[in-house]
Amino acid sequence: MKKLLITGANGFIGSFLVEEALKRNYEVFAGIRKTSNKEYLTDPRIKFIELNFSDTGLLGRQISELPCFDYVIHNAGTTKAFKKKDYYTTNCQYTKNLADVLIKQKKAAGKFIYMSSLAAYGPGDKLQQNVITSSDIPKPVTSYGKSKLESEKYLSSLTGFPHIIIRPTVVYGPREKDLLTVFKLINNNLELFVGFKNQKLTFIYVKDLVKAVFQMMESNVENNGYFVSDGNVYDAESLGNIIKEQLGKKTIRIYIPTALARAIAFISETTKYITRKQPILNYDKVNELECVNWKCDTRPIIDEFNFKADYDLSRGITETIEWYKKSKWL
Ligand SMILES: NC(=O)c1ccc[n+]([C@@H]2O[C@H](COP(=O)([O-])OP(=O)(O)OC[C@H]3O[C@@H](n4cnc5c(N)ncnc54)[C@H](OP(=O)(O)O)[C@@H]3O)[C@@H](O)[C@H]2O)c1
Repeated sequence: MKKLLITGANGFIGSFLVEEALKRNYEVFAGIRKTSNKEYLTDPRIKFIELNFSDTGLLGRQISELPCFDYVIHNAGTTKAFKKKDYYTTNCQYTKNLADVLIKQKKAAGKFIYMSSLAAYGPGDKLQQNVITSSDIPKPVTSYGKSKLESEKYLSSLTGFPHIIIRPTVVYGPREKDLLTVFKLINNNLELFVGFKNQKLTFIYVKDLVKAVFQMMESNVENNGYFVSDGNVYDAESLGNIIKEQLGKKTIRIYIPTALARAIAFISETTKYITRKQPILNYDKVNELECVNWKCDTRPIIDEFNFKADYDLSRGITETIEWYKKSKWL
């Protein structure tokens, strides 16, 4: 039985990675924290391990008590940090700490899979003519994207540490809480758009992302990075149209000018220290919403891993809505 460590195992993507790993008969070590919610990790075969990425001494001791892993999927990361520096600490410094400990203790026998993001590369050209490719010069527009890029650079600088970098576009599906806001608004007959330009967007259903991760992990390929989407390009309005149709709703569309969105972001960023709540609209979010081209190159995952998504946006949203309704989230 091959040993697989999955960090961030209890989160949205992590919990699906764990399920797939169990299906594929891996001995699964689920890296979590003391405070992590384990509601989706109920299978008795899961071996829970607490990992403290911030304290290299403690992390070293925690890892030293574990066996040598055939694979490590480092999926833990923050997409919503309170302060800019927290993105670097969690996404970049913690990745570096984990990789360094694994190398020092020779605990990663096979490949290290790093869950980066399309955000690490930033958007494509404004004329929407090109797709974002791995050979482009990365130009992240958010602190999150910059922190993911920094960790990618660190991993690529290491010798004798086989790894694969995975850069998913927007991931959606059951258990996901950010896009849920869009579903809820539409359920209440409302759609919000920022700016007036038609964005080109890409998506990947969580089960397809997980399939791609395992295909890459179990392949002979190493030391490369790949974008992952379902291969289709969608207009900004496609997501809302599909959700609307499937929920049987009519909506009022509200278009917020970018300048107004920036003003709202300014207020949210200022008041978040009083409310202690993560705002839905912040500077990074507006920066992303302003970009019109999020088309990414999926040719390499097709050519090298024969990857084909099972879900387009419509099919993925059907399953997502089913789950949201069953779980009374919608
Ligand atoms: N969702 C997307 O659209 C998307 C797209 C591209 C890439 N990604 C990447 O995919 C990965 C998983 O994201 P997700 O969407 O599944 O998010 P999620 O549900 O928030 O899960 C994040 C996971 O990381 C853990 N984590 C966060 N901060 C941590 C810290 N300081 N120390 C240790 N563990 C920490 C969380 O543990 P707790 O539950 O204990 O906080 C959780 O298990 C992330 O690396 C993210 O950047 C996501």
